Parts: sequence; structure tokens; C-alpha cells
Amino acid sequence: MKILEARGAWKIYENGVVRVEAVRGADFAVEDGEFVAVMGPSGSGKTTLLSMLGAMLSPTRGEIVVEGRSLADLSPRDLSCLRRRKIGFVFQAFNLFSALTARQNVEVGLRLRGFEGSAVAEEALKALDAVGLSRRADFVPADMSGGEKQRVSIARALAGGPQFILADEPTGALDAQNGKAVMELLAQRARESRAAVVVVTHDSRVAQFMDRVLHMDDGRLKGSGSG
Ligand SMILES: Nc1ncnc2c1ncn2[C@@H]1O[C@H](COP(=O)(O)OP(=O)(O)OP(=O)(O)O)[C@@H](O)[C@H]1O
Ligand SMILES: [Mg+2]
Repeated sequence: MKILEARGAWKIYENGVVRVEAVRGADFAVEDGEFVAVMGPSGSGKTTLLSMLGAMLSPTRGEIVVEGRSLADLSPRDLSCLRRRKIGFVFQAFNLFSALTARQNVEVGLRLRGFEGSAVAEEALKALDAVGLSRRADFVPADMSGGEKQRVSIARALAGGPQFILADEPTGALDAQNGKAVMELLAQRARESRAAVVVVTHDSRVAQFMDRVLHMDDGRLKGSGSG
């Protein structure tokens, strides 16, 4: 079943000085349990597309449809609820809270997702363990390596088992072994938890993990549609 779709989605950035057609008419659908990669050169619109799918950026034209409902029809409150509870987003630039430890960063995500009480700490440790970081749970971002910060951001996105996982270059800062482990973890979330997983990547080695690989070039998505 298609649970996440872009229908003729355009994003045009315009500020009076520049006008950039970052995404030009993307048609794209992901099913539950599917693991899809979007590849393409720098500046081709991948982060913009992923941000629209993650309900963080609204399309200039066209629509994003989640579980059969257009995001344009949701109230601000329902939109915020969707973002917090159902979507796990791995940011290209990690976006960790610098004053919080790895554990606390993951716990913030879990609380937003509705977790309470002792489950918060338990799930946070589970998520950090899944990315091999339980030993760094009490480190703040400034004391971690780039790859460790990236893995905290992945733990935060995956903690509590969101229905949609959108990951922007989740292996960009990782060595081959950790990169493979992260891809396997994402693949497992798709297969076992039936999450819809979309990964933006430059890493051509990921193709082996994917149900489908889409290509983006100059704002245009190719090989799109549902698998
Ligand atoms: N807020 C913005 N205002 C104006 N232009 C923007 C804005 N954000 C992105 N762009 C432009 O839109 C295009 C697509 O950007 P985007 O970040 O989606 O690319 P990307 O494929 O993720 O690139 P990368 O692989 O380098 O992360 C780029 O040309 C970029 O300069
Ligand atoms: Mg990007």
C-alpha cells in the first residue's frame, strides 16, 4: 500500500533576488515496508524533496500525500503531530542539541513521540546501542567524532519505531563498516517494522540494500512511481 507520495511536487525558492527551481514536478510513491534510495549530484534537489516528504517544507505546486491524506488539508496541529510522532528524520547536518548528551538528544525525540516515564531512558539506550554508541551515551556532541554524531542523529530518528524514516546522507560521515551497519539497520526497519524508508545518498554501494533506486538530476526525479 502506498503510504507516502509526492504528486507533481515542485519547490521553487524565491526571495526577490534569486529564483531556484529546486524540485520540478516530482511524482513518487513509497509503500510500507519499502526501502528506497534517492541519488543525484549536489544541488539536484534531494534535501528539498526529502524535506517536503517529511512535512517540513510545503511544495510550491503539487502535493504530498501521507496515508492517503494531502498535507495541505491537515491543520497545523495535525501536521505537527505527524512530524513528531510518525516521522523519523535524519538531517544531513545532524541537528543535534549541543548542550545535551547523546542520550538526552535521543530522549528529546522520544518524548516528542509520546514516550513517558522509564520507557524514555530504556528506548534511548536501545537506540544508541543499535548504532553501536552505548559507550558514548553521556558525551555531548562537541566531544564526539563526526561519525558518532551522525549515529546519534540516526538513533534519535529511529528511536521508538517511527512509521516513516527519511534519512539525508545518513552514511556521509561513516566508514565502510559503520555505513553498512546503518544501511542494514534501515533495511531491517523496513522489512520487520514495515516502515517506509527513504534514504538520500551519494554512496553507490547502497544499491545492494535497496528495493528501488531513484535518480535526481537538476530538480527532476527519474525512475519514479511505485515499485
Ligand atoms: N532556502 C533556499 N533558498 C534558495 N535556494 C535554495 C534554498 N535551499 C536550497 N536551495 C537551492 O536549491 C537547490 C537544491 O538544493 P538541495 O539542498 O535540495 O540539494 P541537494 O541535492 O540536497 O544537494 P547536496 O547533495 O549538496 O546536499 C540548490 O541549487 C540550492 O542552492
Ligand atoms: Mg542535501
